[in-house]
Amino acid sequence: MACENEVQKTFVALKPDTVERKLVGRIIQRFEDRGFEIVEMRMLTLTPELAEEYYGEHKGKEFYERLINFMTSGRIVAMVIKGERAVSTVRKMLGNTCPCEAEPGTIRGDFGLYTPANIIHASDSVESAEREINLFFGR
Ligand code: PPS
Repeated sequence: MACENEVQKTFVALKPDTVERKLVGRIIQRFEDRGFEIVEMRMLTLTPELAEEYYGEHKGKEFYERLINFMTSGRIVAMVIKGERAVSTVRKMLGNTCPCEAEPGTIRGDFGLYTPANIIHASDSVESAEREINLFFGR
């Protein structure tokens, strides 16, 4: 099957466990090794307000409070990654949401074991990428 070329931008956040465990450089290296470009990056601590806006679609789910508490527990690294079909390719590089189900060779499969400490977030669609990039870098 032929590859359809389309350069996209996606939003990625390295979660508090990744900063705490000093894995930031190793994970960024994977994206650069694949050929992606980091076009925006900042380290920050999410306020509860920003975390709730970011994860608004999950409000009411069983894990919501745990997710917000975890994501506000330490510094994250927010970034925009650009390259060929970045949205779907970066999601594949992450692996299954639950690290215990993630294949070896994926980021979560190589570095994580459980939620909520699942290392990394990436946008799940072009629309989410636009919303999340705007939330973190548009203001
Ligand atoms: S859903 O219900 O299918 O829409 O959820 P999912 O897309 O798998 O996950 C949405 C975000 O919630 C995180 N998540 C969790 N956090 C804490 N505890 C549990 N059990 C849990 N399950 C899912 C998941 O990592 C997603 O956040 P991001 O930041 O995108 O990884």
